[in-house]
Amino acid sequence: MTKDKLSYGEYLQIDRLLNLQSPKSKEIGSEVHDEMLFIIIHQAYELWFKQILHELDSIIKMFIGNYVQEENIGTVVGRLDRIIEIQKLLINQVGILETMTPMDFLEFRDLLNPASGFQSVQFREIENKLGMTSSQRIKFGKQRYDKFLEGDDRKKVLETEKETSLFELLEKWLERTPFLQFEGFNFWNSYQMAVEEMINKDMDRISSNPNLDDSAQKVSLQNYETIKRTYEALFNEKKYQKLMNDGHRRLSQKATRGALFIQLYRDEPILQLPHQLLTHLVDIDHLLTSWRYRHSLLVFRMIGVKIGTGGSAGHGYLKKTAEKHSIFRDISNLSTYIIPRSSLPELPEELKKELGFYYTHGK
Ligand code: HEM
Repeated sequence: MTKDKLSYGEYLQIDRLLNLQSPKSKEIGSEVHDEMLFIIIHQAYELWFKQILHELDSIIKMFIGNYVQEENIGTVVGRLDRIIEIQKLLINQVGILETMTPMDFLEFRDLLNPASGFQSVQFREIENKLGMTSSQRIKFGKQRYDKFLEGDDRKKVLETEKETSLFELLEKWLERTPFLQFEGFNFWNSYQMAVEEMINKDMDRISSNPNLDDSAQKVSLQNYETIKRTYEALFNEKKYQKLMNDGHRRLSQKATRGALFIQLYRDEPILQLPHQLLTHLVDIDHLLTSWRYRHSLLVFRMIGVKIGTGGSAGHGYLKKTAEKHSIFRDISNLSTYIIPRSSLPELPEELKKELGFYYTHGK
């Protein structure tokens, strides 16, 4: 007997997929036209969340252990890039939902009570796997976010809190950045000297600028003292630790040093992919923030300052999450410590060779 040929519908289980939309308004006998759009949009989001988790899990797997194989970095960068493209789509998708008017939404909104996007398990899994900590989360009605989840949903989300996150794995990976100390070359001392020279030059320029009056000069010099202190914390373990204790930094000093080396010497062949990896993580963080803003504006447009179906202060709560729920902020913040290419300490010739492509082929 010959087996039936596989069809498009069978392979993708289209029948099942298209039977998963059950508007509540239809159930009670007065179907509201826009509820179908509301359901499909949310389901589409959840499908894309599933794909993001699929990528994230594979990336985390490649990072686990003490050694990220060099050939894996390209794959990691490619998969992060895929997440970025999906995120862009997710932000644009909000526009489709905005074709529904607030009045049309009100026709079925009460039927959703007390369900809320706040209960999206996959959204929480993405946040936790990326590295969001429960202590940094804005409290929701003075309660922890997981209090609004039940049974297996809650268990699943709490499991991801215990797993090692991408942030933690990245930190360990950065802490192992090679070449910071290479024979006679100490990156950290050379960098510190270059920074001091740059700041002193700028301060001299301010002091001798004939266009600045005394008070403008004083303000500019005071600003530079602050910049100087920010740099000092980077060189001084105790000061850096204080920044961490006060919650101003999360990434360890050692990892920050590794990341800075990568960002400063990104032009060297073997640092190009690590640089892209860091840039992608910043992109993902920024796109997540953009989605939060976009969603909070959508909520404002739909329900104004009414409370959410989940019971939060709606728009106000969501706006705060956009401001505070950043995961890779310390990587974005490396820009504070970037110096011009022309001021970069020159690498010893031997080290430059090590950082060239021949290094990987030569081994
Ligand atoms: C008419 C459209 C929408 C309205 C009025 C709305 C409203 C809200 C409100 C008020 C909250 C805060 C929690 C609460 O009190 O319920 C919330 C949270 C949330 N919503 Fe929506 N939402 C809409 C569309 C969407 C869509 C399309 C998604 C896509 C999955 C979504 C995902 C989420 C998520 C993940 C949260 C939790 C955010 C966080 O805690 O950081 N929402 N939504």
